[in-house]
Amino acid sequence: MTSQISFLMCPPDYYDVDYVINPWMEGNIHRSSRDRSVEQWEGLHHILKQHAIVGLVKPQKGWPDMVFTANAGLVLGNNVVLSRFLHKERQGEEPYFKKWFEEKGYTVYELPKDLPFEGAGDALLDREGRWLWAGYGFRSELDSHPYLAKWLDIEVLSLRLIDERFYHLDTCFCPLKNGYLLYYPSAFDSYSNRLIEMRVSPQKRIAISEADAVNFACNAVNIDHIIVMNKASEELKARLAEAGFHVIETPLNEFLKAGGAAKCLTLRVTEPVLEEVHANVPVESRILRLEGHLLDSGLINRALDLIVDNGGSFQVLNFLLGEQRQSTSAAEVKVSAPSHEVMESIISYLIDLGAVDLPQDERDAKLEPVTQPGVAPEDFYVTTIYPTEVRLNGEWVKVQNQRMDGALAITSTPNGIVAKCKIIRDLEVGDYVVVDVQGIRTIRKTESREQRNTQEFSFMSAGVSSERRVELVVEQVAWELRQIRDSGGKVVVTAGPVVIHTGGGDHLAQLIREGYVQALLGGNAIAVHDIEQAIMGTSLGVDMQRGIAVRGGHRHHLKAINTIRSYGSIAKAVEAGVIQSGVMYECVRNNVPFCLAGSIRDDGPLPDTQMDLIKAQAEYARLLEGAEMILMLSSMLHSIGVGNMTPAGVKMVCVDINPAVVTKLSDRGSIESVGVVTDVGLFLSLLIQQLEKLTSPYTTKVG
Ligand code: ARG
Repeated sequence: MTSQISFLMCPPDYYDVDYVINPWMEGNIHRSSRDRSVEQWEGLHHILKQHAIVGLVKPQKGWPDMVFTANAGLVLGNNVVLSRFLHKERQGEEPYFKKWFEEKGYTVYELPKDLPFEGAGDALLDREGRWLWAGYGFRSELDSHPYLAKWLDIEVLSLRLIDERFYHLDTCFCPLKNGYLLYYPSAFDSYSNRLIEMRVSPQKRIAISEADAVNFACNAVNIDHIIVMNKASEELKARLAEAGFHVIETPLNEFLKAGGAAKCLTLRVTEPVLEEVHANVPVESRILRLEGHLLDSGLINRALDLIVDNGGSFQVLNFLLGEQRQSTSAAEVKVSAPSHEVMESIISYLIDLGAVDLPQDERDAKLEPVTQPGVAPEDFYVTTIYPTEVRLNGEWVKVQNQRMDGALAITSTPNGIVAKCKIIRDLEVGDYVVVDVQGIRTIRKTESREQRNTQEFSFMSAGVSSERRVELVVEQVAWELRQIRDSGGKVVVTAGPVVIHTGGGDHLAQLIREGYVQALLGGNAIAVHDIEQAIMGTSLGVDMQRGIAVRGGHRHHLKAINTIRSYGSIAKAVEAGVIQSGVMYECVRNNVPFCLAGSIRDDGPLPDTQMDLIKAQAEYARLLEGAEMILMLSSMLHSIGVGNMTPAGVKMVCVDINPAVVTKLSDRGSIESVGVVTDVGLFLSLLIQQLEKLTSPYTTKVG
């Protein structure tokens, strides 16, 4: 039985594994058997000839992968988009395929140079002809998809491949007759999976196991109700039978060694055109400009990685390299994304890196009104720690109260338009909120080669900070603390109870007494244990002099709480002479404001502890205003809370014994943060020593 369907194949005369351009070829160089590959190829050829017409293209010596005719190009009707191979190992096949298509009377379209696209290996027509699925991520560029749509006049749905074993779309995806789809979901990113699920109903989706996937079960040729493939599990065959398909297995393991099977070895050259189908590509592109020490600071790498990791692709249009160490570079990068949604998320990351959307220079930000108090419009732009500007009525307006995780609220006042970061719950009806990512830019300090080095050092990327490194950070911090104090600046400390348990209480108290701290933020616990120590000499029942647990000591902190409650506040207990030392004592004595934010696990709480968290957040924000440095001492909860309220430009020094906490806080990408993985008691004692050295007249400048 022969239908009008026809395929192109290429005999395996010169087939071999000669090089490695996909993971299957690794370890298989010259390991395929000539005889067996000929036999297997003929097996497939024989089966197909019973169901369709099979044309042949002459194999060429030196082009061993030419057997994989799926990669010749993509055919629809009389048009063909010729492949542009990514690897030079296959580029020499292009002219032979081109010649074949031209001789057969096809109209051949060729993509711009350097825009890879690997034909029907990466582009599969829905078998009902409704649209084209196109893959990207390994061999084909996303930017080729708009060309496919234009030349073939069809809707293109872009799917991103993320598992290098499934480097071509046809290795993990096979549209079948009647709208069925055979595929391996894990080969795709989550956005692509959602797209697939939107287009193909659950009853029509046949998701296969990894075991079937690595046997190339998706690399199948579907002609009406038959599916020809290398191998399928019994389970898969049964599921396909239920959907009305009959599987014909034909061994192709010699070709698996090169990363191909049944589908790769064929190209369907009769693909009917549907009248009602027309071009449509959701692929969006934008041109962005980046400036700074792009190479030295690694900014360009970060930007490009970010684009790809988030499902986009890029083309660097211009790169102006700064030639001296101090001169900055500038780049124009075209970013493409498979949809507006993906584009928005990529752009918002790039804005964080300081990128400017070029055509956007002429576009205002998009605004939407708040219609429900405390609720932002759906697509609201989420703010970052970086100084931000927003374009309104043709002018860039600086955003006030910069903080992360807020919305950009715009209000008109008698003095003009005001743009402010507001947390969602503070939004009011009448506010306008910036939505989408257009008309927004952030101002980033240019980061130098030197800063990158200090930053990497501070991140403790190695996981451990050597003693000497801790000392170096301490020297630096001591120096800055001195500078800030002497110039009347502001340092805020957030501290957890570990400061007291590790014996750091006295040191912190000394810092406060000597004027190095202008506000203290923490929870109920630091105050409780500090006061317990002041009144009873223990911290959580442990004798701080001898380091051993005191009998019945676990009750101590409750006694401490009870005592303070009886006086009505910490300040009153200090006045009454009940507390005579410690961190809280020094705060009261030296008029250093503090805020204790409560939590669900608090004992007591102390009368001073603010159990209304919305009020506590507001108080934290108030005390943080104008801070130049924040010392974060072993409190993940309070430090992260503070980090969220703090704009870039404020130096944060985070000390914790747990590297994860330090990384989490330093990782906000602001160059001013320093992380130190060490015992906080030890850190404070070193810090005091260092400050004392600075006070002695024999000191030399450090830092
Ligand atoms: N060795 C070839 C390559 O890596 C195999 C191509 C398989 N073809 C396909 N349509 N998946 O390019």
